[in-house]
Amino acid sequence: MYVLGFESSCDETAVALYGGSGKPRLLSHRVHSQTEIHQDFGGVVPELAARDHMRRLPLLTRMVLDEAGLQPDDLSAVAYTAGPGLAGALMAGCAFARGFAQASGLASVAINHLEGHLLAPLLDDPAPQMPYLALLVSGGHTQIIRVEALGSYQLLGESIDDAIGEAFDKSAKLMGLGYPGGAALSELAQSGRRDAIAFARPMTDRPGLDFSFSGLKTAVANAVRDGANHADVAASFEQAVVDTLKIKLRRAVAQTGLKRLVVAGGVAANQPIRAALTDLMKSQDGMAYFPPLSLCTDNAAMIALAGFMRFEQGQVDRIGGFKPRPRWPLSDLTPPAAQI
Ligand code: KG4
Ligand code: ZN
Repeated sequence: MYVLGFESSCDETAVALYGGSGKPRLLSHRVHSQTEIHQDFGGVVPELAARDHMRRLPLLTRMVLDEAGLQPDDLSAVAYTAGPGLAGALMAGCAFARGFAQASGLASVAINHLEGHLLAPLLDDPAPQMPYLALLVSGGHTQIIRVEALGSYQLLGESIDDAIGEAFDKSAKLMGLGYPGGAALSELAQSGRRDAIAFARPMTDRPGLDFSFSGLKTAVANAVRDGANHADVAASFEQAVVDTLKIKLRRAVAQTGLKRLVVAGGVAANQPIRAALTDLMKSQDGMAYFPPLSLCTDNAAMIALAGFMRFEQGQVDRIGGFKPRPRWPLSDLTPPAAQI
């Protein structure tokens, strides 16, 4: 069984192939980042994103099939990101994927992008066993989720305002580090003092697993305005984020008794966060799992995998059934159903 996956929810166009005749695995994947198109605008321009997805998808598809040595006829199904994300960008990917499926006589499977992130660590070896705790940290999300089984997700806590990636990106922008500047900020932080500025560890003095990062971003703006050394600001900001995550995740482990933690989403590429959460889970006699670095940020491998798992359990789109959903919270998902 082979599933071709497409991702186009934001500013990455990606295609991947997952499956095989024996133990299924990732056979090929390609990502094209649109960063260059959007960086002069300081953020993603939806119209430009949609146009570029349309332009890139055919060639990426050809490259992925060629690398795996397969033809459309060899495939079992097509999976695509149906939401959440930018409406036009989703529509471009959805139209291409469903058109490709129909022309090739294949079933299509609509996939939730966030579910893709949650399942991405299953592409690695060793893969975590369900149930597990998941920390989803990206440009748009900061959530702690209990992953019970495929399609069965319970939201335990989330940011009440900015996502962590957003706080990284906005702070980076304040220091002139470009967009999206999360990784650049982290690099700058390496040469700064982590205790230089006493930023708050937001919401840690309150019970529960929710987060808030907009205050931290404002504190960074104030420090920059007051002329603080940028490397020190970056390091102190990053340390505040790391400490906050450690406190909340320790709480989540105590609350759920789950000893496996999956960290997913673009911010899971952050080295200090990886190191701190690895240590934390070790200290709890548990284990932290991270997707390979290339599969932390948006990609189609995770979409092909989620599609494979759902298709294997009988899920396919009805013809004319599923439409792109710019808003599609994880809590709306259900285990694989025959048709959606
Ligand atoms: O999951 P993702 O690729 O796209 C979304 O769905 O949002 O995540 C992108 C986010 C951006 O905010 C980016 O700045 C952040 O992940 N990011 C990082 C690092 N690498 C990517 N943030 C902190 N440290 C990093 N090394
Ligand atoms: Zn994402």
